[in-house]
Amino acid sequence: MADVTIKALPNGPYLVEGDVTLLDPTGQAVVPPKRPFALCRCGSSSKKPFCDGTHSKIGFQAADAAPQTP
Ligand code: FES
Repeated sequence: MADVTIKALPNGPYLVEGDVTLLDPTGQAVVPPKRPFALCRCGSSSKKPFCDGTHSKIGFQAADAAPQTP
């Protein structure tokens, strides 16, 4: 099993580390610009699905930590 982590950065993107394939809605592979890569969580990136740093400019405030129970 691949060792992949997705970390929610404080008031920022999801940082994806490891050997993972990112697919678009049609199932086509999307090549990240670099690895590890960051996925936009604020919804304001002009390079979705990747983070372009806009979250800092708009003062994005992420929700508190994810619930620990499924
Ligand atoms: S999280 Fe960085 S631009 Fe959206």
